[in-house]
Amino acid sequence: MRAFIVVSHTAPLEGGFSLSDLPGGAGRLDILCRCTTEAFLLSHGIRKDVRLYLAIRDRLVVELEGRRLRHLNPDERSTAALLRRALTRAQGLSPGESAESTPGIRVRWEGLRELLVRISGEGFQPLVLDEEGQFVRKAPLPAWPAFVLSDHKDFTPAERESLVLYPKISLGPLSLHGHQCITLVHNELDLREAKWVGSP
Ligand SMILES: C[S@@+](CC[C@H](N)C(=O)[O-])C[C@H]1O[C@@H](n2cnc3c(N)ncnc32)[C@H](O)[C@@H]1O
Repeated sequence: MRAFIVVSHTAPLEGGFSLSDLPGGAGRLDILCRCTTEAFLLSHGIRKDVRLYLAIRDRLVVELEGRRLRHLNPDERSTAALLRRALTRAQGLSPGESAESTPGIRVRWEGLRELLVRISGEGFQPLVLDEEGQFVRKAPLPAWPAFVLSDHKDFTPAERESLVLYPKISLGPLSLHGHQCITLVHNELDLREAKWVGSP
């Protein structure tokens, strides 16, 4: 099992936005849509062994599970519609309560720190994607890694504090888009799992 936590600083906390303005009125929801596509979609199928956590504004988590996920298509607009349903479903939930908005997508009010504690209890080991970290090809990786990455903004000081104990992993010297990082991580893990020549 592998997981990604995308930390979003600007995405909306409710569903009252237009699908025609994802980068503007929807607070760069386009970034979360691209990360969702890259996390799950293969050319002809869906990665079942993946969880994606969209941690929005340190308050809300949208959780997508490959094993149960339905209706995910390659286009950003239909992905945004799925996320909008999740954000709408979140309204009225109490802290600690979670609800499924569509198959494989759950939502709950939860901060980043609580999320990290919860998934660690489920067996995931968080790792922070950071250009300054250890190069991924040389790094030992746990069986159930959970890679944490930020959106178009840097991690805040509070987020850095929540993440300080976890190993940092670099994918290379250039600053990449989040969805590109997800693709590279998948490739590295795919190579390792398939025991391709050249992987450690
Ligand atoms: C678009 S980047 C953030 C850019 C940065 N905050 C800025 O405004 O210049 C999104 C995230 O991808 C991850 N990332 C980008 N390039 C990376 C690299 N070469 N190695 C590891 N992680 C990377 C980091 O977690 C980063 O926060």
